[in-house]
Order: sequence, then structure tokens, then C-alpha cells
Amino acid sequence: MPPPAEPARADATLEPSARVIAVQDGVASIRPEPGVAVAKNAAALLLPSRLGPDGRQERLLAEVLRVRGSEADLQVFESTAGVAVGDPVVLTGRPLSVRLGPGLLGSLFDGLQRPLEALAAAHGTFLPRGAEAPPLDPAARWAFAPAVRSGDRVKAGDVLGTVEERHIRHRIMAPFDLDGCWTVLWIEAGVAGVLDVVAELGGPGGTRRPVRLAQDWPIRTPLPAGLLAAGRAERLRPDRPLVTTLRIIDTLFPVALGGTAAIPGPFGAGKTVLQGLIARYSEVDVVVSVACGERAGEVVEMIRDFARMEDPRHGGALLDRTVIVCNTSSMPVAAREASIYTGVTIGEYYRQMGLDVLLIADSTSRWAQALRETSGRLEEIPGEEGYPAYLDSTIRALYDRAGVIRTADGRLGSLTIIGAVSPAGGDFDEPVTRSTLAAVRTFLGLSADRAYKRFYPAIDPLISWSRLEERLLTHWARAGAPALAAQVQTLKRLLREGEDIARLMRVTGEEGITLADFVRLEKARFADAVFLQQDAFDPVDVSAPPARQQALLALVIEVVERPLALGDKDEVRRLFQRLTAIGRNLNYAPDGSPDRARLEAELRAELDRASTPGGGAPAGEGILPSDAEVRRSPDT
Ligand SMILES: Nc1ncnc2c1ncn2[C@@H]1O[C@H](COP(=O)(O)OP(=O)(O)O)[C@@H](O)[C@H]1O
Ligand SMILES: [Mg+2]
Repeated sequence: MPPPAEPARADATLEPSARVIAVQDGVASIRPEPGVAVAKNAAALLLPSRLGPDGRQERLLAEVLRVRGSEADLQVFESTAGVAVGDPVVLTGRPLSVRLGPGLLGSLFDGLQRPLEALAAAHGTFLPRGAEAPPLDPAARWAFAPAVRSGDRVKAGDVLGTVEERHIRHRIMAPFDLDGCWTVLWIEAGVAGVLDVVAELGGPGGTRRPVRLAQDWPIRTPLPAGLLAAGRAERLRPDRPLVTTLRIIDTLFPVALGGTAAIPGPFGAGKTVLQGLIARYSEVDVVVSVACGERAGEVVEMIRDFARMEDPRHGGALLDRTVIVCNTSSMPVAAREASIYTGVTIGEYYRQMGLDVLLIADSTSRWAQALRETSGRLEEIPGEEGYPAYLDSTIRALYDRAGVIRTADGRLGSLTIIGAVSPAGGDFDEPVTRSTLAAVRTFLGLSADRAYKRFYPAIDPLISWSRLEERLLTHWARAGAPALAAQVQTLKRLLREGEDIARLMRVTGEEGITLADFVRLEKARFADAVFLQQDAFDPVDVSAPPARQQALLALVIEVVERPLALGDKDEVRRLFQRLTAIGRNLNYAPDGSPDRARLEAELRAELDRASTPGGGAPAGEGILPSDAEVRRSPDT
């Protein structure tokens, strides 16, 4: 076997071939030696001549942002304090890349894929600048089972073998940049590390290419780009729903597997909590969580939760299906810009195995701010609010990396991207929110008002939308819920009417609206409380599978459509107080439990009493039993 060589990352030892000619904050300008080529997005290493505090030669990772004649500007992913004019620079000639292979699941990386736990073990909590460690532990052993034999012909992306990574059958694929058809020269089953060569491929003109368990891929190039161009993969229209088990999303504003969604909201409206719920309960195989510019404490909390919580799909800890990429507000800003691409590329890699992957990013506003800072340092012509003029296309290109892919051998994988957006002051009419809303297919707008009332999740049903609603409702109709589309329309109409009536009532007072309108308003409030709101602290209500959502919606619609014979607003109010209490308890009752059946019967009995004209007395009197009576008779 050939010796395991380190694949292309910036951690190889290379000769300096450029010098720093200017440095300012996170940007260094360099001049390469004559004849040395320098390309945009290539990785570089700055070697400050002033040695680190422990006498160590620091190596600061950087990326070429701009080439100007014989000079270039670099974004440095670390503090540039102490970097001086004349300092040597290594130009790796390779693009900034991420390492893809077994061991990603359960890992915690920074935006440049440095393994934070390994670094913390070596250096303590406060990482020295330029601290290095390989992204995937080279000492970890994996049992490799080949799927092809020597002599077989293979192309880019073909599955060469598998290893078991936690609950995932991790496919080891032929290098994604392989050109044309290659022959397997040899391939060996056995226990190997990520950098060990497990096979060798022979190509045109006698060229040979080693295959390791891990391969590298440039973060700024969509992983399937070459495969798509070569007809080795196909993009499909997303038409299956992402099941989040959150009612307001799945039923009202669905996201597709392979689709995109944005969650804008003011500070404190619940973006992070909502993303955590989506990450926890969504029916996907792998979750990539990019914590971008948020507080470190939140990230620590998330990791603690994920280590403790169970993966509802595969069992085991939630962390086992999760990759966390984190660049908290206390880490250098430039790496924050890279962190989203690192996360997306990891997501694309698992998608290529035929898995459903969800990427959540919190928050893309902080990422856009990093773009703005770098653009400012390069003195580019600013667009609106100082963001670069290419903000729009950059955001669009990011969300374009979501999608459904079918591989040459028929594997079907998806990458869904859900980004939180945190506009200052909660004003959605600002560049990042606007560009994001133009790029995504689902908009889940959080409202400060709903958060203030503790109507969680605080997604505002009156501003949110999903461009996939019809397509995904067709899916549910085929899956046995043909009435769903009409029920969703009824619910949305009711919520709009409720808002109109509430607005009117704010002007005229309760006396100013008719009894019929008051009933509509109470019905809208009931539907909101029982269906849209979902209790994240209740073990049952926190996660509602589609069938449970659909049964509840049918019941809510039954209430909504029932004509009521009530005499005055107080009666209406009291009825809906009881219905809402029963509805909430219904949400706490597990499917098939005696409680559930009893509460359903109770709800129907309330309805019958309120809508049976024969039940009695003239308008305004005696139709309804008192609250005390209702409470006394739960089992009837
Ligand atoms: N679904 C929810 N259920 C209960 N409380 C919530 C929910 N969402 C948010 N909260 C409350 O609101 C606070 C702020 O939420 P967070 O997600 O951190 O807001 P944001 O990320 O939008 O700033 C949380 O600490 C929690 O107390
Ligand atoms: Mg947050």
C-alpha cells in the first residue's frame, strides 16, 4: 500500500512564495514571487515572523479574495495582530476545502472545520491563534467493506464501498472530480483510518489515483456541480414534504425535502428555539447545524441538549445524526463567512449518499454582516446599507445549493436549507431579509406581537407563505388526506377574517361588532390556540406527526363550521374558553389514550349543546351549563 499522504488542505508544509505588503484588520495584501500564479479562493497560510507567545511558528489560514495584477488581497481567518509587512506567505494553490469522510457525525467544528473538541483538549478553552488539528481524527478506525472489485469500471461519485458511521451506512464514493471512466486497480476490505488508501484507480494514459476514506472538496463549489454537468446526477423537483412535526409549518406553510425556508424575526421572537425544534424533530437522516455569529452560550446549550436528547427517528443521541459548525460571536468574523459554506458542503456530501439532510443556519444576518465587513475592507462599492452589491446573488447562490438529487445509480437524496434571519429592530424591509425572501420557497415570519403573547411558535400566519403549499397538499391527498387542502383554505380564511374583526373591534370596542362577527373572532382565536400554537414543553404536544395534525385539523374545522345558537357575547366567550381548554388538553393526550377519546367526546358535547336550538331556552339564557357543571361531568 502506498503511504497515506495528507490530501489537499492547508495543513501541508509548503514553501513560502509571497510576502505581505500591507495588512489591515482581517485583510492582508500580498505580492507573489515572479512567476507564481495566484487564484481567487485559493487557500494561503500567513507565517508571522514574530513568533507566537510560546515561541511557536504560527500559521494563519487565509483565502484569496481578489487578484489585482501582480498583487492579491487575502481574507485572514484569524486575528492579524502582529502580522507585519514582509512576512512570508504560503500559497497552497488549492481552494479552501472541507474534508469529507466518516467521523463527521457528532462532530463540532469551527467555520473552517477545525475540530473544536480536539483543540480544546489540546489547548484548553481559549484557543491560541493558528491552533491546528486535522478535521477528522486520523486515528479513528473504520471497517471498510468494498462494493466494487478490481477490474470494475467506475466514474465520479460511484459507490466504491461503505463503512458504518453511527446509524448511517456511510458510502465511500469515487472522487467527485474524477474525469471519465476509471478502472479499479485494487481495493481492499479491512479496518482503515480516514487517510489510509483503500483502493487505487487507473485512468487514461496510465494515471493512477489513490482512494482514501476521506476526500476534500472546495467549499465554494457545489459538490454535485461536476456530476450534474457530466450527467452523473440529476436535479429533481422537490415534491415530498419535510415533516417537522410542527403543525403550523407542516400543515399551513410546508417546507419541501430539498426545499428552502427563511425564518426572519426580531430578537427574542424564538428563531433559535424554533430551529432547535425543527432540528430535533424533523424526519431526516442528517442535520447540519450552522451556528453563525450567535452567542457561544446558546451553542453550548444546544450541544448539551443534543447529547442528551434522543433521535426520534433512529434512536441513540440526537447528536449522532448531527454535525455542528459553529462560529460564535466571539470568534473571528471572516471564518463566520466561510462557516455556512463548510456546513452546506458537508450537507451536500451526505445527500450524495442518498440521504435526507437538513441544514439550519442561525443566523444568516450575521453571515451577511461578515460579508459586508470584508467587502468594506476591500473598499468595494457598497450597495444598500453598506452591503456589497452582490448580496442578492450570493444569498440566492447559497439557497440554490439545496435540492433533490438523483444519482447515476438511482439513489435519491435531499438537502433542505432553513436559515434564520435577524433584522435589526425586526424590520423585514431591509436588504438581507428582502434578498432572502426572494431566494426561498417558504417564509416563516416570526412576530414580536405573537412572541409577546407567548403564542409559540410565534410564526405569524398572516404574513407567512409557502410556494409549495399546493404541491405538498397534493402529496397528502395521495397519502390519504384528500380533504386537507380545503380545510387549510378554510382555516386560513378564518384567520384572516378573525384579524379583520379584531382590528375593527380595537376601534369600535366589543359593542361595535355583531354577534356573528364575535363568533367568527372566537372561532379564529380557538383555531389559533389549539392548532397553530404548540407547546414545546409538553412531551406529547411538542411533536405532532402528520396523521395527528390532520385529525386535529379536522376536529378544529368541525368546530369552525358548526353554526352556533348562542344569545350573547358572554355566552360565546364562555363556550370558547371551555372549547379551548379541552382542545389544549387534547393536544397533551397521546394518540389512542383514554383521555383523548374522552376529551374529543367532551368537545363534541359542548358543541352539540351550543348548537342545538331544541336544547332550549331563548336567546341569551340557559343554553349553556355553568362552568362548574362542565367541570363536574368529565366522564359523561
Ligand atoms: N416555542 C417556544 N416555547 C416556549 N418558549 C419559547 C419558544 N420560543 C421562544 N421561546 C422563549 O423566547 C426566548 C427567546 O427565544 P430565542 O429563540 O432565543 O429568540 P431569537 O433567537 O429569535 O432571538 C426563549 O428563551 C424562550 O424563553
Ligand atoms: Mg437566536
